[in-house]
Amino acid sequence: MPLVISKLNKKYGSQVIFHNLNISFDDNVINCILGASGCGKTTLLNIISGLEKYEHGEIRGAEGATFSYIFQEPRLLDWYTVEKNMWYIMGNIDRTAAMKRIERYLAVTGLTKFRNYLPRQLSGGMKQRLSIARAFAYPGSILLMDEPFKGLDIKLKRELTEEFVKLWNEDRRTVLFVTHEPSEALMMADNIHIIGGEPCRELYRTELKTDRSSRAESTDEIVNVRKKLYSFFTD
Ligand SMILES: Nc1ncnc2c1ncn2[C@@H]1O[C@H](COP(=O)(O)OP(=O)(O)OP(=O)(O)O)[C@@H](O)[C@H]1O
Ligand SMILES: [Mg+2]
Repeated sequence: MPLVISKLNKKYGSQVIFHNLNISFDDNVINCILGASGCGKTTLLNIISGLEKYEHGEIRGAEGATFSYIFQEPRLLDWYTVEKNMWYIMGNIDRTAAMKRIERYLAVTGLTKFRNYLPRQLSGGMKQRLSIARAFAYPGSILLMDEPFKGLDIKLKRELTEEFVKLWNEDRRTVLFVTHEPSEALMMADNIHIIGGEPCRELYRTELKTDRSSRAESTDEIVNVRKKLYSFFTD
């Protein structure tokens, strides 16, 4: 089911973040969300996942959903090792299946040999990788990713992006992926949404038709959408 948000209203004190926001996200595709810092991206993900309250509005398509969430700031349990941080979120998933998933995602993110480290013994990028591994390992039906690859070097970012698209292809779920990088959205998105303004609304939405394997080439679509995206952020 698509995620359909209608007439959403959210304030922090007297600051109006959303006033009758309408936005919808297709299901089982990668939806990238771009927008200026402070416009309300994290607030939107928090509302969708049920972590944040709102005044009124309607959210359809989230009933009965389970969420995997890569928070903007890694929320790790400081007194648990890397491996225990993985186990902690697996809930009542079958132990053998959970173990398989944990091993796989520790390996994918290059953390297998750091499994006994505590979060304070990890670098910032390693903590980020652990929160990615954790969210991938938990098979939520909706995957929320709030700038998951920030602070990582270009090589690792490229590897994780490719790995993410591969994993997603094997096990398609609805993804909401917040990024500040138009290039990241152009590489991986099915749909791109730009939000912004005060109060925050959807400013632009497009569906990319170019196959992901040809995204690095300058097809007409990619060139045009790239131009459009940059026009929102360079004024
Ligand atoms: N708990 C809070 N209490 C008060 N104001 C808040 C709270 N959380 C967010 N805000 C305000 O709401 C606005 C939107 O914040 P949000 O974190 O959603 O922005 P964002 O688009 O995710 O920005 P960034 O790209 O920098 O992460 C900001 O003006 C922020 O100051
Ligand atoms: Mg944010």
